Amino acid sequence: MQTLKQHLNTLVSRCLSEASGIADCNANVITASKPEFGDYQVNGVMSLAKQLKIAPRELAQSVIVRLLAINDPMIERMEIAGPGFINIHLQNAQLLARADAILQQPADLIPAARNPKTIVVDYSSPNLAKEMHVGHLRGTIIGDCLVRVLERQGHRIIRQNHVGDWGTQFGMLIAHLREIGSQQVDLPTQLEDLETFYRAAKNRFDTDEVFAETARQSVVKLQGGDPEYLAAWRQFIDESLQHSQAIYDKLNVTLSRKDLKAESFYNKDLSTIVDELEEKSLLSISEGARCVFLPEFTGKDGEPLPVIIQKSDGGYLYATTDLAAVRYRSHTLKVDRCLYVVDARQSLHFQQIFAVARAADFASPTIALEHIAYGMMLGSDGKPFKTRSGDNIKLVDLLDEAIRRAHRLVTAKNPGLDEAARLTIAETVGIAAVKYAELSKNRTSDYIFDWSTMLSFEGNTAPYLMYAYARIKSILVKPGATLKKYQITSLSEKAERDLLLKILQLPEIVEAVATDCYPNQLCNYLYELAGSFMRFYEACPILKAAQEIRESRLALATLTAAALSQSLDLLGIETLEQM
Ligand code: ARG
Repeated sequence: MQTLKQHLNTLVSRCLSEASGIADCNANVITASKPEFGDYQVNGVMSLAKQLKIAPRELAQSVIVRLLAINDPMIERMEIAGPGFINIHLQNAQLLARADAILQQPADLIPAARNPKTIVVDYSSPNLAKEMHVGHLRGTIIGDCLVRVLERQGHRIIRQNHVGDWGTQFGMLIAHLREIGSQQVDLPTQLEDLETFYRAAKNRFDTDEVFAETARQSVVKLQGGDPEYLAAWRQFIDESLQHSQAIYDKLNVTLSRKDLKAESFYNKDLSTIVDELEEKSLLSISEGARCVFLPEFTGKDGEPLPVIIQKSDGGYLYATTDLAAVRYRSHTLKVDRCLYVVDARQSLHFQQIFAVARAADFASPTIALEHIAYGMMLGSDGKPFKTRSGDNIKLVDLLDEAIRRAHRLVTAKNPGLDEAARLTIAETVGIAAVKYAELSKNRTSDYIFDWSTMLSFEGNTAPYLMYAYARIKSILVKPGATLKKYQITSLSEKAERDLLLKILQLPEIVEAVATDCYPNQLCNYLYELAGSFMRFYEACPILKAAQEIRESRLALATLTAAALSQSLDLLGIETLEQM
C-alpha cells in the first residue's frame, strides 16, 4: 500500500502535469506545516508557475478542477492558500479503512519498499589495536538504526564492520605480546584492558630502541605471512573482537562476527589496485609515492591534492584499502548502494575515494556511494568528551555508568519493585537513554553529551517514550479493556483523528529515514506521536466511555502501542511493559 503522502503526491503531480502541460511534474506534497493548513499541503505549484510565468493561484485552481473531476475517495476537500499552496483535507472513511487493515495485520504499519535493493552498510568499524571509546558510539548506534530501518523495508542488507586490524601498530603489539608471552603470563588477563596493554607497548616502543626494532621487524614478519607472527596477531585480534562484541551485545546492536570485513581482508587486492590504476594511467609519482591527482581536489593554494596509494617504502594506506573495499562491494557483492557511517572528519577522504573509484571503474556507474557523516560528541564544556586527564573514555565504562544512573532513577521512582526487576529495567532504560540521545540529534552536528537530559522522563527522551508505551499497555490490560473486535469507528473528537492520522504517517517517516539516513526524523515523529496520544488520553475518556466509543478508543490505543513499539524497535530500543 502506498503511504498517504505517496498516494496524494502521485495524484496531484499528475494533475499538475495536465494543468501545466509539463511532463513529470512533482507536486511536492508534504505534511501540513500547520494544523490550519489541513492534513497535507501541495508546495510544488508556485515554482512551476514562476517558471511558466503564470499566476500561481490560477495554476492551483486548474489543478483543483482536475482533482475534483477525478473525485479521489481520499480527498474530502481542498482550498487554495496564500500565494498558491493547496491545502488538502482527508476523508475520515479512508483513514478508518487504513486503520482497519493495519489492525488486522499490524506488520503492515510499515509496508515493504517497492523495489528492494542490496545495500552495504559499513559501520562501527573500530580500530582493534585499542578499546572502543566514546568516539565509536555514534557510528555504531546510527549505523545499527539504519540497517534496522532498511531491513524492515525488505532491502537486502550486508553489514560490514570494516575494523582496523592491520598496519604498523600491530607490529608493536605483537612484539609486546610475544615478549610477555615468553614470561608465561596469562594473556587473557593481560588483554583484559586493551588500553593499558596498548600504552605499555607504546611505552616500550618509545623508550627502548631494541624493542622498537623488534616491533618493526614484527610488522614485516606479519605482513610476510610468518605463521608464528600471524598466530600472535590472531590471538590479539580475537581478544579485541571479544571486547567489541561485548559492547555490541550490551548495546543491543545487531553486529556479530559474521559481519566482519576487516582491513586485512583486502590485503590480497592492494597490489591489483595499484596495477589497475596504472593501467588506467591514473597514477603519478610524487616524492617517491604513487598518487592519484584528480582535478576536482585542490588544496587552499590551488595546489593539486594527491590521494596517496602507495608510499615510497611500498606500504599501502587507509585509502588503498578503501578503494579495494569499494571494488569488492561493487563488483563482487554487486550492491546497489553503499553507506559509510563514519565520522564527518573523514569527509574529504570519502569524497576522494568515491571520485577515484568512479574514475578507475572500481565502482560501477550505478552504485550509490554515500558518506553518512556524523559530528563529535562533546562534554558539557563544549570540548571533545574525554576523561579529566584527557584520555578517551572507554565505551564500556560509559555504558555501565548509564545503567548505574538508570538504576538510581528507577529505584527512586519505583522503590517497591524488587531488586532484580529494577536491575532489568535499569539496563534497558540506561542503554536506551544513551542510544536515543544519539539518534534524536541531527547526526551532522556536534552534540553535548548530558546525562540529566537523556535520563529525564520529560522531553524527547527514551524514558519519556518508553513510559508512554508502558502506560498505554497498562490501560490495555485493565479489566474492561478486552475487546472482541478491534476496530476504530469514532473520529469525532479532534484528538482521536489527529492521533490516527499521526499513526498512519509512520511509513512516510520510515521512508524518509531510509532515503536520507537521518534517524532524528523518526525520533521527532515518535515524540509527536507520544504527544498526540497524551492529548487524546486527556481529552477522550476510554474505559468510562459508552461501549462503542470505548472499543474504538481501545483499538486506537492498541494501534498507538504498535506504532510506538515498532518504531522503537527500528531505533534498536527495547520496550518495557512496566517501568
Ligand atoms: N577504522 C576507521 C576509524 O576508526 C573507520 C573505518 C570506516 N570505514 C571505512 N571503510 N573507512 O577511523
